[in-house]
This record gives sequence, C-alpha cells and structure tokens, in this order.
Amino acid sequence: MLTVAVINQKGGVGKTTTTVNLGAGLARLGNRVLLLDFDPQANLTSHLEPTGDANEGTTYDLLRDRRPIAELVRETGEENLFVVPAGDDLAGVEIELASEIGRESILRDALARAEADGLAADFVLIDCAPSLGLLAVNALTAADEALVPIQAEFFALSGMAKFVEVQRLVQNRLNDRLRLAGIVICMWKGNARLSHEVREEVENVFGDVLYRGVVRQNVKLAEAPSAARTIFDYAPDSNGAADYAALTIEFLRRHEGVVPADAMERLLRSGPPPAAAPPATEEAEEVEEASGSVESADAAASEEGAAAAPSAPPESEGRPAPDAPEEPEKPLQPDAPPADEGGTRPDAPTAIDPVQADGGGPGPS
Ligand SMILES: Nc1ncnc2c1ncn2[C@@H]1O[C@H](COP(=O)(O)OP(=O)(O)OP(=O)(O)O)[C@@H](O)[C@H]1O
Ligand SMILES: [Mg+2]
Repeated sequence: MLTVAVINQKGGVGKTTTTVNLGAGLARLGNRVLLLDFDPQANLTSHLEPTGDANEGTTYDLLRDRRPIAELVRETGEENLFVVPAGDDLAGVEIELASEIGRESILRDALARAEADGLAADFVLIDCAPSLGLLAVNALTAADEALVPIQAEFFALSGMAKFVEVQRLVQNRLNDRLRLAGIVICMWKGNARLSHEVREEVENVFGDVLYRGVVRQNVKLAEAPSAARTIFDYAPDSNGAADYAALTIEFLRRHEGVVPADAMERLLRSGPPPAAAPPATEEAEEVEEASGSVESADAAASEEGAAAAPSAPPESEGRPAPDAPEEPEKPLQPDAPPADEGGTRPDAPTAIDPVQADGGGPGPS
C-alpha cells in the first residue's frame, strides 16, 4: 500500500482534480484505490458522489472518534475506486483535537490498523485542503510521499519553499519515510512564455521530482465534477483524459517500473455517453485550450504571436472495440492480482510513446 498526500497550501491548483483522476486512472488499470477527502470543502466527495448513506461516516469520524476506516469506505461510480468522504464538520476538527495527544498521527495509526485488518488498497490518495494545519500534518505523517500539483505561475516557487519547510519538519519529527516525490504542473497554458519559464525554474530546483507530463487547461476537466464523473468517464476523448492517462502511466512507471502494455487504451476507452450535453462544443474547447505538450508549445511559442495548436490525440486512437469485456468489479479486499501483470519492462515503449511522438502527449519527449 502506497499512501500519497496530494497537497499544496495554495488553493485552486488542481489537487482535487488530480486526486480524482489519477485515482481513477490507477483504478482503471486494476489497482484498488482508496481516496480520502481531507478537505472541509468536500470537493472530492461531491465530485465522486459516493454511493450509500451520507450519514455512514466521514473523515471527521475517522479523526475525531477514531472510527475504523473499513466502516467509512464507500463505493464510487468507478470500479476499484473507493472513497472516505468529508463533511463540513471537518472544518472544526483542528480545534476539537487541539489538546489531544498524538493528534498528528491519527490517520497514520488508522491506516496501519486498517491494513493489519486486511484493507487491501494498492494506493491511498489523500486530497488535502489548501492549508498546512493539522489536517495536512496528519496527511503528511501518514504518507509515504507528497505529490504537489502546482500552476506554472509567478508565485509557484515561493509556495513550494514554504511547503518544503513543512514537509522537512514532518519528515524530521513525525515521519522519516516521507519524501517529496512528485510535482505536477496543472492547468498548463502552453502558449504563455511565463509557463515555460516557471517550468524550467521548477525543473532546475527540483529536477526529476517534476513530472515530465503536464496537465493542460481543459474545459472538460472543469465540467466533469458537476456531472459527478471522472474525466475518463465524462470525456474520454478530451485532452484532459489524455493528460491524466499520461500522468497515471508516468506515476506507475515511477513507482512500479512497469505499466501494462495496453495502459493508454484501457484508460481512454469510451465510457457511457454524458448524461447531459456538455455546454461547450469540442471546437470551442480547442480554441480555449492551450497546448499541453511542452514540446509542441515550445514550437508554438517560438513563432511570434502564433496560437498554440490543439493537440488532442485522434479520437479513434487507442480505443478498444466497443464490445471489449469489462473487468469484474472487485471489493476493497485482499488477494488482488499485481497491477503490473502482463506489463512491460520499465524501458520498453508503452502506449503513451506514440502519442508523445505525435506531439499530442502532455510531456516533452
Ligand atoms: N487542467 C484543468 N483545466 C481546467 N480547469 C481545471 C483543471 N484542473 C482543475 N480545474 C478546475 O479548477 C478548479 C480548481 O481545481 P481543483 O479543485 O482541483 O483545485 P484544488 O487545488 O483542489 O482547490 P482547493 O485548494 O480549493 O481544494 C476546479 O473548478 C477544477 O474543476
Ligand atoms: Mg481541492
């Protein structure tokens, strides 16, 4: 079980969007994924609309009353993807726990207990609130690593400096396993010079911690929460789906060294049609979007005044036959097959490479 805190004290940078869609991507590749909503805004919870009774329990009950995680886990519309939701009572928990001994490690203890009791999640992703208070400290104390979504804008690095200070503090005092293992640029505006400058600077400071792929600004990603669906379900042909598919693959490569050879196809397979017609046409989306490929955006930026070219992969590319068999639903229980079964070697090309070679992928090649 790998526990990842998706964290940045800056608001609106893409934490929840990344938690939902990276989680869904990992789940679609056969991993059991548990998402924890650690934000009193409960955006993750409303995005996923977990099934079952809203009174079944939340992360507040986990922290305040030490209720076992197994009692709080709920299913979502995606198989293999589970969530412990948040309620607005979470806003008061920092004050309520202020005098409690061991309050920083409640989540770590709860996850350890759950794992000992047979909770078989391959990945736990914690969607953090935009602050560095007790909720964030709990997430960092429980986590193996921090994944930090940022926007490529002027204040990104100063925000990172503050975060790194807190991360080191937690690492020294509470959790020596914790490492800053990933920074991912979200809402990438490939045609803005500043985006490239900031990306370069982040790469200079943090090196390989920075994910190679970026998540482009994409209207479908902003629409998907209101439809209570992941991007793979809501708009599998969008740039947003392509970028989170690529992020999922990069994440798995970094952690497991192997990814299933057909990962891209499996992630971008078409789901059921959206319940309501999306408000914007694909054409409008393409005009609005900046290019997500750093490489192709570089080319665009070098042409004075040139608009960034839209770079979604061809609609039919990488899709399995419509009648491809669905995987059976799996509960959050032990004995799942390894995620990389039938996978490729780490250095072997995967489905992502042709997309990148086309200039359609989200990262530099
Ligand atoms: N790549 C993207 N393109 C367009 N819109 C996006 C993208 N990523 C996220 N959004 C939208 O931007 C808003 C902020 O994103 P999100 O909620 O993921 O950020 P956050 O860091 O979790 O915010 P908070 O700090 O408030 O929890 C949301 O409305 C989301 O739908
Ligand atoms: Mg959020």
